[in-house]
Amino acid sequence: HQVNAIASRNALLAPYLKDASADTILLMCASLVIVSIVFLYTLKNVLYARPHSNEPPIVPYWVPFVGSAVTMGIDPIKFYRENQKKYGDYYTFILLGRRMVTCLGTEGNNFVFNAKIADVNAEDAYRSLTVPVFGRGVVYDVENAILMEQKKFVKSGLSVENLRAYVPMIEMETKNYIARWNMKSAVENIYHVTSQLIIMTASRCLLGEEVRSKLDESFAQIFHDLDGGFQPINFLFENLPIPSNKLRDQAHVKMHNFFLEIMKARRESNIKDRHDIMQYLTTECKYKDGRKLSDEESANIMIAMLMAGQHTSSTTSAWALFFLAENPELFEQLRQEQIKVLGSLDAPLTFDAIKKLTLHDNVVRETLRLRSPLLCIMRKVVRDLPIPNTNYVIPKGSYIQGVPTISSRSDEYFEQAEKFNPHRWEIFDKQNNKEHDDDFVDYGFGALNMSKARSPFLPFGAGRHRCIGEPFAYLQIKTILATIVRTFKFELPDNKLPECDFTTMVVRPKDPFIRYVRVDY
Ligand code: HEM
Repeated sequence: HQVNAIASRNALLAPYLKDASADTILLMCASLVIVSIVFLYTLKNVLYARPHSNEPPIVPYWVPFVGSAVTMGIDPIKFYRENQKKYGDYYTFILLGRRMVTCLGTEGNNFVFNAKIADVNAEDAYRSLTVPVFGRGVVYDVENAILMEQKKFVKSGLSVENLRAYVPMIEMETKNYIARWNMKSAVENIYHVTSQLIIMTASRCLLGEEVRSKLDESFAQIFHDLDGGFQPINFLFENLPIPSNKLRDQAHVKMHNFFLEIMKARRESNIKDRHDIMQYLTTECKYKDGRKLSDEESANIMIAMLMAGQHTSSTTSAWALFFLAENPELFEQLRQEQIKVLGSLDAPLTFDAIKKLTLHDNVVRETLRLRSPLLCIMRKVVRDLPIPNTNYVIPKGSYIQGVPTISSRSDEYFEQAEKFNPHRWEIFDKQNNKEHDDDFVDYGFGALNMSKARSPFLPFGAGRHRCIGEPFAYLQIKTILATIVRTFKFELPDNKLPECDFTTMVVRPKDPFIRYVRVDY
């Protein structure tokens, strides 16, 4: 009787019980979500507690360690710009366990590039990526004072006399290469083309004819494998046991030994009349303490030079051709400039003529303004670092990041900043030259104007780590462009510029296809 009574009560309550259990489940789920959020939030705060209450604001994130890696990786320009709007020129974000303090605007550029070595260093930021590729005893494997001396050696090796000798070499290499474009018009992977042109011309000019002559055979594979070591992941982890790192290590040994053999052969044959960097490094260079630069160091410096210029100059040349294709009227303007300076489009290019080709110069500059190959510059903070004119203090162990691309693509500094307009440079310098004559400093590789680091346009950096390859890069890219536009113009196959590929070490064009069209005179 009792059982029956319970059964009939349950039957009466059944619809309500059913509803109640659905509500309960909902309630439980909601509580679980809330508890998880609170848990993750607490975990995050425990793991990434702000060492300083006045650290720059932190971009919110949910997954500890990963931080903002995904949003930042998908479209870094959007990420930097959006957070600049929210937090101003200084903010922190978490990138795979690292605290990255982004420093924007001209003051942010100056803060990063002119930071003192007592406060920050580049070695700790770049070592894991570069030392296995470049090798021991050079660049970020040595203390800063030695790097400054090594930069001086290379800078002196890139003398006007040597640069003068390079122009005919670059012109000849480029002419030989484009001779294979024998159709009236065809589509080419232009990043592939410019990469080949840059490695051929750089190896010919900087490393010498022995290296250039091996480029079609063994050297190309060694270069390819060594280059494969430049994976962004290697920024974060040292010596990951991945196949590309194994190939990188083997390739480093092969390239290093290859250069040593050439040096030895040159000595034995008493060859002294070359204009390449190898000649200069192996005969002229002594450190301040009187020690001669060793062949091992020379070999690794040459590897570093080759690698420093390869992707930066290849991508700049490729983007320049894309921008020209987008603005076809510029082809005729460039050709007219050559006729004005050289008399005709058949005259051989010379160092003096290349210097006078200012529109060619401005095409390269404007390309670098919109597509600076190196998106960000990093330093590791080695002691708590206050940011001038703010209340912020950057905790020791963080990384600071300069992103001059954001200022160089900002309407705050450049009218219609996203538009490709090389002519803007004809007046920009006159209006914006705010250098102070007394603001010079020499870190060891030549006097630099400190106030330049406050510029919104810094594709070659500033301060003690400033690029010393700029004159060579301009000469190389301008000579390649000048040679190509004599015979060809370009069109965008889809009538739009390619998107940026941010997944590689330099900002490259995605699907870099372009149509060349032979010009008949
Ligand atoms: C440094 C850009 C070509 C050799 C730099 C830096 C930038 C840069 C932004 C500063 C890095 C930092 O502050 O952390 C470029 C661009 C190039 C180019 C955009 C081409 C378009 C070259 C070439 C060479 C070269 C052709 C060699 C012949 C160097 C060296 C440093 C440097 C030795 C100094 C590194 C240091 O002191 O830490 N480059 N570079 N670069 N670059 Fe270049």
